[in-house]
Amino acid sequence: MKDHVVIITGASSGLGAELAKLYAKSGYSLGLIARRESRLIELKKDLETAFGTTIMIGRCDVSNQDAVFNCIDGMISYFGRIDLLIANAGISLASPAYEANAQALTDTIQTNVLGAGYCAYAVIPTMIQQQSGHIAVISSLAGYRGLPEAGVYCASKSAVNILFESMRLDLKKFRIGVSIIRPGYIKSPITDRNEFYMPFLQDTDAGCKKIFNAIQRKQKIFAFPWPLAIIVRSLYFWPCWLFDLCFSGIKNKKKADLT
Ligand SMILES: NC(=O)c1ccc[n+]([C@@H]2O[C@H](COP(=O)([O-])OP(=O)(O)OC[C@H]3O[C@@H](n4cnc5c(N)ncnc54)[C@H](OP(=O)(O)O)[C@@H]3O)[C@@H](O)[C@H]2O)c1
Repeated sequence: MKDHVVIITGASSGLGAELAKLYAKSGYSLGLIARRESRLIELKKDLETAFGTTIMIGRCDVSNQDAVFNCIDGMISYFGRIDLLIANAGISLASPAYEANAQALTDTIQTNVLGAGYCAYAVIPTMIQQQSGHIAVISSLAGYRGLPEAGVYCASKSAVNILFESMRLDLKKFRIGVSIIRPGYIKSPITDRNEFYMPFLQDTDAGCKKIFNAIQRKQKIFAFPWPLAIIVRSLYFWPCWLFDLCFSGIKNKKKADLT
């Protein structure tokens, strides 16, 4: 994979940082994006030392359209091409509807939906010129139905699924692929904050290897781990009375209550 270029957003921690390691190990050149520059500088140093990779970092807030276009344009000019974008940057805020937290709604949609969309739109013209490229977005199993106290996160991932599914159809004729990755729980700073029980919680490295392999296979939709993916997909067909019976209030239970 020498001379192949991947841009990864949200690379300063969690899944993004682990994916950066996997792509560096595979010989890709890396463009790494996040807001915490000091974390990116540290990661760049570690990966260059370990794998001799070429890495460019960009401090950028993905919810800022101009900043995204400037940052990604700069990376594409530096590397001369772009083979893969992983739109991974995201936030997850508790959002019980009774708190009516409009700021959480705004921040989540701006980061998770608009941010991912801006990043994709910033690479599409170059990929069309190249007549090649691949775009992967890190969505979530939470995008199938509205889960308790997580409405804005679920809504954002649901929107991402639809946005990137249409993108896949539109870009096929330019030989550009799109992968929608829908993970269950993976250990990261996002899940470390959760106080509730997380079924099928996966280690960061194992979860990211699965993501890496799915993107390498250019899988269109990859929902995992499969037992949780089957359960969550089946929720889609549950009638509201059953769904409400099982899910209303579930999030208030702490880990200790359930183990
Ligand atoms: N962990 C899971 O169980 C899980 C499951 C399903 C989906 N996901 C998705 O996986 C992605 C990565 O999450 P994670 O678990 O690795 O959590 P994380 O460690 O908190 O990583 C989130 C990353 O996104 C970046 N980010 C957040 N807001 C940003 C913004 N406005 N501009 C630029 N970068 C921003 C953060 O960097 P800065 O703060 O430095 O900007 C950080 O690098 C998210 O999209 C999340 O929804 C995670």
